[in-house]
Amino acid sequence: MPHPRTLDAIRADFDAPPHVPRDRIVDINWAMGSVPNDLVDPYEPCGWLAGDDIPRILYNVPVSSGLGAVAGMGNGTWVVTHYDDINRVYTDNEYFSNKGTAEFQALIGETFRSIPLAIDPPEHGKYRRYLMPHFTPKRLSLMQDDMRALAVQMIDEFAQRGEVDVAWDFGRVYPVRIFMGLMGFPAPMFEQFLDWEWNILHSGDLGKMQAALRAVLEFLRGFIAEKEREPDDCLVSKIVHGKIEGKALSDDEKIGMVWFLWLGGLDTVAATISQMFRRMALQPEIQRQIREHPEIIDTAVEEFLRTQPILSSSRKATRDFDWHGVTIKAGETVQCVNPAGNFDPRRFADPRTFNPQRESNRHATFVLGVHRCLGAPLARSELRILLDEWFRRIPEFRIKPGTDSTVYPGLLSIRNLTLAWEA
Ligand code: HEM
Repeated sequence: MPHPRTLDAIRADFDAPPHVPRDRIVDINWAMGSVPNDLVDPYEPCGWLAGDDIPRILYNVPVSSGLGAVAGMGNGTWVVTHYDDINRVYTDNEYFSNKGTAEFQALIGETFRSIPLAIDPPEHGKYRRYLMPHFTPKRLSLMQDDMRALAVQMIDEFAQRGEVDVAWDFGRVYPVRIFMGLMGFPAPMFEQFLDWEWNILHSGDLGKMQAALRAVLEFLRGFIAEKEREPDDCLVSKIVHGKIEGKALSDDEKIGMVWFLWLGGLDTVAATISQMFRRMALQPEIQRQIREHPEIIDTAVEEFLRTQPILSSSRKATRDFDWHGVTIKAGETVQCVNPAGNFDPRRFADPRTFNPQRESNRHATFVLGVHRCLGAPLARSELRILLDEWFRRIPEFRIKPGTDSTVYPGLLSIRNLTLAWEA
């Protein structure tokens, strides 16, 4: 990946903590989705990071603005890029903690925790068990007809037009409407939710983040109070009226769960959809394979997820310890570069090839270990139904000539992407 500054210049400029060996210092912030590119496989530049010649642990210079700066990575972070090391960071809960993860609410002085993401085992287990029944494939099968009906209705609206902005008019809307229905949130809040979320996750502006946080938490607390007064069938109502180990939930537990679901459920699938369609438009043989063999949709979705990991998570070291020739100190952040791990040739045969029938595709896109995405079965269902209905209705498509197809290879991804086909 071309870089504006040489490694020597970066190492000379950066005042690293004294225990960080100079030869481990790098600037790979571009691998976290902050720099756009126009490649068919936007994560290709991360592939070499899992190579044999790359030290198993690196130290990434600080991000100066945006999410990373706010997430407490202002002193730089340790970084792992090989699948086995990523797997250890996600699964070794004794050495690596999730405390404080995604707790943006701290920016406005809130002290409740983001549940279940910011809770370590064994406490994490009780929350996970509490929420799990609402996200099992069996539970989600009850939503299949509604999801399918929504996908069909939305696709039918533009099928004859011969084009659609698949990022803005479809990807941004379809999963969020499903999620809002599941949670019971009022449909007219759609634009407002996305606006708040954009300001919190992507604006990189502290004032905007704080204003959005205040507004969304006020809304969610009001919504919780409403469901406490008038229970119904929606997930928020079930969450606030349930019991954990025989005890009613505290106010902090209620807002902690509803807040984190709100944060996790809004634009993750949207980003994946945009990248999935961009990839198919640029590589039409993938379209042909899925169209001719719809029975491969499940494995194809998994391959889209492997090759398009929109997030790279991090953990905090719980103690001082030595690993791969360096000393990691308690409290330091270790970031996992999922797009490098997902292309690690020791784990995935021929990793750069998009293989829609890949077997044993245990990628890190939803992370690994106890915090594996709770919404993964929902995300998978949404993507599978979408592909199934899309290929029944839309012929071969491409990116509309003149459309900007650059992508931020992360959660931000693509704001607009117009696809065109013969109507
Ligand atoms: C393709 C779509 C999605 C992707 C790529 C994704 C990715 C992730 C990742 C990487 C994590 C782990 C974060 C970490 O450990 O630091 C996570 C956790 C989580 N996600 Fe998702 N997510 C997606 C969709 C969803 C949806 C739709 C929901 C909710 C309806 C959701 C709810 C959650 C929850 C509750 C957790 C926390 C799990 C725990 O800590 O036990 N996700 N997700």
